[in-house]
Amino acid sequence: MKRLLVLYMSRGGHTARVARVIMESVRAEGHECDMMDINEAVHESVDWDRYDLVALGAPVLYGTYDKGFFKFIDDHATQIEAKPNSFFNLSVVARTPEKATVEGNRYMQKFLELSPWKPKDMKVIAGKVNYPAWGWLDTLAIQMIMKMTNGPTDKNSVIDYTDWEDVKAYGRHLITLAK
Ligand SMILES: Cc1cc2nc3c(=O)[nH]c(=O)nc-3n(C[C@H](O)[C@H](O)[C@H](O)COP(=O)(O)O)c2cc1C
Repeated sequence: MKRLLVLYMSRGGHTARVARVIMESVRAEGHECDMMDINEAVHESVDWDRYDLVALGAPVLYGTYDKGFFKFIDDHATQIEAKPNSFFNLSVVARTPEKATVEGNRYMQKFLELSPWKPKDMKVIAGKVNYPAWGWLDTLAIQMIMKMTNGPTDKNSVIDYTDWEDVKAYGRHLITLAK
């Protein structure tokens, strides 16, 4: 039996939901899996020795990632790199097939540039548009991103672009990487 840990950061709750579905898909295969919000991990500290693989995930926010996410990686790169690992990102541009690949998703390339941790495995996941949940400034900014990429700009749009079966498959894939 393998033991996996999914660490995530989530601004609006969608990445947390992805982490949960990964965890449930791993558990459904008879393995152990925990999920932990990185803000919690900072305070509670992680029992790294418990796990055979660690996956970290975060949403793209304004073309980059939360500073706290990079800080956590800076502080724990050694522990993360000591075992099989994977990184997943969420973005709304990943709703199109060409931006849903590691090579085609510039935010993945950006992560590789900025992170001292170079993940052994990576996964691009399409996120959620949720204008009603966002403040007017965020809504305006994302409407602009959407306009440039022919996405929805109606301020009432709530669209979940995540392929949940693919998220479950990613969970099963992580089990195969765990040692
Ligand atoms: C403030 C903000 C900025 C965002 N910036 C981008 C962006 O630059 N590119 C993109 O593709 N998606 C962007 N998104 C979309 C998020 O990556 C997507 O909604 C994701 O599902 C959010 O996950 P969360 O609910 O876990 O925070 C942004 C969302 C927010 C709220």
